[in-house]
Amino acid sequence: MKRFLLAAAVVAAAACTTTKQEPTLKDAFKENFTIGAAINEWQIRGLDTLGVQTLTKHFNSIVAENCMKHEEIHPAEGVWNFELADKFVEFGVHNNMEIIGHCLVWHSQTAPWYFFDDKGQLVTPEVLKARIKDHITTIMTRYKGKIHGYDVVNEAIVEDGSYRKSLFYQILGEEFIPFAFECAREADPDAELYLNDYGMNVPGRRDTYVKIIKDLQARGLRIDAIGMQGHMGMDYPTVEEFEESLLAFAGTGIKVMITEWDMSALPTVNMGANVADTEEYQAKLNPYPDGLPEEPAAIWNGRMKDFMDLFIKHSDKVQRVTAWGISDRDSWKNNWPVRGRTEYPLLFDRDYEMKPFLNEYLTK
Ligand code: G3I
Repeated sequence: MKRFLLAAAVVAAAACTTTKQEPTLKDAFKENFTIGAAINEWQIRGLDTLGVQTLTKHFNSIVAENCMKHEEIHPAEGVWNFELADKFVEFGVHNNMEIIGHCLVWHSQTAPWYFFDDKGQLVTPEVLKARIKDHITTIMTRYKGKIHGYDVVNEAIVEDGSYRKSLFYQILGEEFIPFAFECAREADPDAELYLNDYGMNVPGRRDTYVKIIKDLQARGLRIDAIGMQGHMGMDYPTVEEFEESLLAFAGTGIKVMITEWDMSALPTVNMGANVADTEEYQAKLNPYPDGLPEEPAAIWNGRMKDFMDLFIKHSDKVQRVTAWGISDRDSWKNNWPVRGRTEYPLLFDRDYEMKPFLNEYLTK
C-alpha cells in the first residue's frame, strides 16, 4: 500500500510541475486587450521555429506583415496569389488566434497595373472603383468567418492633415476612403473595419482622421476602430501627445488599436542630408552592431513601459496592442533607413528573450 501511495504522490507532484504554466503576455493582458504580432513568411511557413514557439506562447492575435499586400496577393489583373495568405489564415485558425488582414487600400506596395490602362494612361474613376471593389470583395469573401478585421485604408493622411496625394486620391479624390469601407462592409458584414496610419500623435493628421471617422459614421458606414501604428523612436512621440490622439479617436465612439508597435533603440538620424555613403554617417546609423549598451537599453525599456502603462490605463478604449514583428531580428527597422543595421525595437530580443520592461506585467 505504501508503494502505491508513494507512486501516487510522485504522479501528483509531476502533474503539479507540468501543469504550472509559465506566465505569458496573452494571460498578463487578457483583461486589457489582445496582444498581437506581425508575422512574416518564415513564421507562416513554420521555418522560424523559435519565432513560432514565442508567437503561440505569448500572443493571441496575428497580422500579415506582407503577404496580403496588393502587389503580393494581386500582382496583375485577374492574377491572384493566395498561397501564403491562405497559410497565414490557416496558421491563425489552427492556433485559435485573432487574425487581422493588412491591408486592402494602401498607396505603397500596390501593383502598378491597378492605376493604368493598356495605353499607360491613368484609368477612369469608374475603372478604379471596379478594381477596388473586385480586390476587396475577392479577398474578404475568401476569408469570411476567419479574418476578424481589416486595415481597410492605410496611411491616407500626411502630417499637415491633408490627403496623401496617392493615385487613389488623384483618381477618386477623398471619396476613395468611404468607397473602400462600403465595399468592405458589403463583402463581409461581420468583419471589423479599420483605418490605420503612423504618426498619429501629429495634430494635423489626428484632426483629419477624427473628421473622416465622423463622416463615415454620418454615412452609416461601418468603422470599428482606428489603428495608431505606433512606430516610435527614443525621442518621439511623447506619451502625452500620443494619449491626446488616443483620446480624440476614442471620443468618436470607436475603439483604438496599437497596430504596428516598435521603438527604435538607435539615435534618430536626420534623413535630410543625403550623406548615406559616408563612413561617419554609416557609423551613426548603426551604432550598436554587437548589442545594445546598458544605458540606451534602460532608456528604451523605460519608454516602452511608459507606453504600455498608457495602453493599460486606457484599456477600456484600446482593444489590441500589436508589435510589428516578434523578435528584434524580424524588424523592418534593421533595413530602414539603411539596409543591414542592427536594431532593437521589439518585445523579444534576437535570442527570443522577453525585454525586461515586460517582466513586471507577468508577475503582477
Ligand atoms: O519577399 C521579397 C524577397 O523575395 C526579395 O528577395 C526581397 C529583395 O529585397 O524583397 C522581399 O520583399 C520585401 C518584403 O518586405 C518582405 O521582406 C520587400 O522588398 C520590402 O519592401 C518589404 O518591406 C515591408 C514594407 O512594409 C513595405 O511593404 C516590410 O517588411 C514591412 O515591415 C513594412 O511594414 C509597413 C506596414 O505594412 C505599413 N506601415 C509601415 C510599416 C513599416 O514600413
